[in-house]
Amino acid sequence: MTNMSKDLVNVIGLGYIGLPTAMMMASHGVSVVGTDYNQDLVNSLQAGHLTFQEDGLEELFAQALQGGIQFSNSYSTDADIYIVSVPTPYDKLSKRIDPHYVVAAVKQVLDVCRKGAIVVVESTVSPGTIDRFVRPLVAEHGLKVGEDVHLVHAPERIIPGNMVYELLHNSRTIGADSREVGERVKAVYASFCQGDIEVTDIRTAEMTKVVENTYRDINIAFANELLKICYSDGMDVNEIIRIANKHPRVNILTPGPGVGGHCISVDPWFLVGDYPELAHLIRQARVINDSMPDFVLERVSHIMKENGLSDFKRVGFYGLTYKENVDDVRESPTLQLVETMKEHLAGTPKSYDPMVHTQVVDNQYQDFDAFLKDIDLMVIMVHHDHLDQCASKVQDKVIFDTRNCAVNWPESNKIVKL
Ligand SMILES: NC(=O)c1ccc[n+]([C@@H]2O[C@H](COP(=O)([O-])OP(=O)(O)OC[C@H]3O[C@@H](n4cnc5c(N)ncnc54)[C@H](O)[C@@H]3O)[C@@H](O)[C@H]2O)c1
Repeated sequence: MTNMSKDLVNVIGLGYIGLPTAMMMASHGVSVVGTDYNQDLVNSLQAGHLTFQEDGLEELFAQALQGGIQFSNSYSTDADIYIVSVPTPYDKLSKRIDPHYVVAAVKQVLDVCRKGAIVVVESTVSPGTIDRFVRPLVAEHGLKVGEDVHLVHAPERIIPGNMVYELLHNSRTIGADSREVGERVKAVYASFCQGDIEVTDIRTAEMTKVVENTYRDINIAFANELLKICYSDGMDVNEIIRIANKHPRVNILTPGPGVGGHCISVDPWFLVGDYPELAHLIRQARVINDSMPDFVLERVSHIMKENGLSDFKRVGFYGLTYKENVDDVRESPTLQLVETMKEHLAGTPKSYDPMVHTQVVDNQYQDFDAFLKDIDLMVIMVHHDHLDQCASKVQDKVIFDTRNCAVNWPESNKIVKL
């Protein structure tokens, strides 16, 4: 695809979303500067080293470098379009969005941008965030929205583990105050995006993104609640879901040990925080999914008793990330469970994750063989491909398989399903 846009783009925030987005644009003919305030991260990219692992990212990086991408610690003074892709956590007490990263980044853009610049908030935000927190910043800078600066929201839908493919193929949403500005931003994304690009207003775009992740959270919570009901009364939830899904209009998801990551476990809280009197189902889904690590721990205690194991120090958790084949540990169920164990049980449990090479918790092994040697019960929290490749190494263990993946494993193991 060729780039029809002549705009210079400054992507602010080179994390899991900003970096691949910047590289995708640069590799499709867009002039791109990527900015992050983390100097180590910028140094690393300038030296040609990626900052996280992801399928196809090395190739994309090479193409982006060929396309002339630049990395910097400071904001561009002559960009036409700024794309802000910084974190949007929620306040743990009020459950509302904590917009301080977005506010700080937009302020810095407004300090340097030229007249007529477009500021695109790509970070996920709750409906009304741009009106409440971003629009007033423009006035504070003595500028006018729609004249001196234009505001746009262009949320991202990609899934870690398949980011490069999804950047190319997912459809996306652009919210803008005017059709003309929306179309200009659309032209930049259309340089690489082969999916439909809907142009709408900002509030609709904000709400649509949060609704998408909330929909996923509720569906996962339904599967997890079914699991608890079935377990309490000796029914096989997986068999029940398999048969129920034969119904032409039923598609129940797979239960699991909890929901983590920066999106599904966070964004539904925005709606709970902003609409506490209305968001009952949404709140309950969050509560159910957040209860799953504790459910896993209760099951671990029972499995230990049933198998005559008494030493928590001989229990090991496989997988620290929030999903398979990525290195992102944010809000992961295993980390939630480790916190509970630290507080109430026998200290930090043993863990191993082939994707995580930094030490994120105590008693985390970097060697799978050493990990296996020191445990009797292995709890599978994440189904990395590594596990399938190394299954033959696992012998004489009790396996608590929360991912339903230990199929055809060595017979010397005793497998217990979630
Ligand atoms: N990770 C996902 O799977 C995913 C998917 C869709 C949407 N999102 C949304 O995208 C946004 C970004 O998420 P992420 O996972 O890429 O976060 P991240 O933490 O991986 O990256 C954010 C980057 O922004 C930088 N940063 C923060 N403030 C800055 C500032 N003022 N100036 C310059 N750099 C700054 C940080 O140093 C960091 O490198 C969030 O709103 C998130 O909800 C994430």
